[in-house]
Amino acid sequence: MATGTEHAGRLRIGMIGYGQMGRIHAYAYRAIPIFYDPLPAIPVLQAVADVVPGVAAHAAARAGFVWHTEDWRRVVESPEVDVVDICTPNSEHLPVLEAAIAAGKHIYCEKPLCTGLKDARRILAAACRAGIHHQITAEYRFLPALMQAQAMVRQGQLGDVFHFRGLYLHSGYVDPKRPMAWRLRRAATGGGVLMDLGPHLIDQMRVLVGDAAEVQGSVQTFIRRRPSAERPGEMEEVDVEDSAQALLRFRGGAVGSLEASRCATGTEDELRLEVHGSKGAIAFNLMDPNWLYWYDGDRPEAERGFQRLATVQRYPAPAVAPAPKFSVGWTRAHVAAQFAFLEAVAADRPAGPSFADAVAVHAHIDAIYRSAGGSGWTAVPRTE
Ligand SMILES: NC(=O)c1ccc[n+]([C@@H]2O[C@H](COP(=O)([O-])OP(=O)(O)OC[C@H]3O[C@@H](n4cnc5c(N)ncnc54)[C@H](O)[C@@H]3O)[C@@H](O)[C@H]2O)c1
Repeated sequence: MATGTEHAGRLRIGMIGYGQMGRIHAYAYRAIPIFYDPLPAIPVLQAVADVVPGVAAHAAARAGFVWHTEDWRRVVESPEVDVVDICTPNSEHLPVLEAAIAAGKHIYCEKPLCTGLKDARRILAAACRAGIHHQITAEYRFLPALMQAQAMVRQGQLGDVFHFRGLYLHSGYVDPKRPMAWRLRRAATGGGVLMDLGPHLIDQMRVLVGDAAEVQGSVQTFIRRRPSAERPGEMEEVDVEDSAQALLRFRGGAVGSLEASRCATGTEDELRLEVHGSKGAIAFNLMDPNWLYWYDGDRPEAERGFQRLATVQRYPAPAVAPAPKFSVGWTRAHVAAQFAFLEAVAADRPAGPSFADAVAVHAHIDAIYRSAGGSGWTAVPRTE
């Protein structure tokens, strides 16, 4: 049974894992009471667990969690916690998800939900049975430019969609001297860049164009051995891909392509999206997040061309700060995503993007891997 919001006006957060994303989620919870007014509920940083000695204590001291532990089960089972926020490496999501669902906690979980489709389906079914509120992190849904892109597609401003093109490019693994880490081990991740950047790309693809009916994928590993972080002088095998591509045929008739890489020299955090329809087109680049580029085919011919819509920091009420004109960024999207989750929990209505969206993302990833493994054009299983 869900714990609900017995402590009127407060939702007590129990965070599992305080690495890169734990810090960002903690920052976002602390920003919510400052950025939004009125508040559906005040997030309280109640407890934090991290398996590495000293990390949770540091998190409590710096971010202000009420208590800390090295044992995540204490957080998940605590009656003082309403929401479990999962920020561990991918393979460590599953045991926490299972225990949190069993304890009736609401869950905000980092992407990808699990390391594979089968577990993701099982977790979705268990979460639905338990009646908890659940949301997967897909922060780009909460960037004003992409909120506007979604609204324009939905309102038919692009007409019938013909083409989708999505790229998510990082360069962090170009250096062969970069040592092994959990992101490069299949057992810890379920896959390489497709499990890492892929969920963001596929989530945006689904939001803008819908589900693919079939995909043709390929994956590559450029740097197959890397120095061991634990054993100086030794090398370890990399068993996940550095880059992935897929051709797409959508259920609605559009076609498209996806490309994700962690070896795209010169890039930083380059999520690029382009959609072309019968009446217009849109384009977005995460490195230029204040603008949505729009081509309006209905304009007189002499006035046609891509125009730049200033979407900046235009969040709907009850967002009150920072003011809409100021430039937007990645952390602001996390604040908006976590606010949306707290709002849904407080109002006792379904949160989104939900674990059902996460399962659909897994279905696409699974089909791309099977295609890359030799099955050619491969059907994406329906998940609804
Ligand atoms: N939404 C995004 O933009 C985004 C960006 C980066 C990472 N992620 C996702 O966030 C998750 C975490 O990634 P990260 O970059 O923060 O990793 P990280 O390695 O920086 O942090 C993970 C933390 O979890 C801790 N940990 C590991 N196992 C644990 C356990 N069993 N119990 C408690 N703590 C444990 C580690 O000690 C570490 O502090 C991953 O699933 C990743 O895919 C999302």
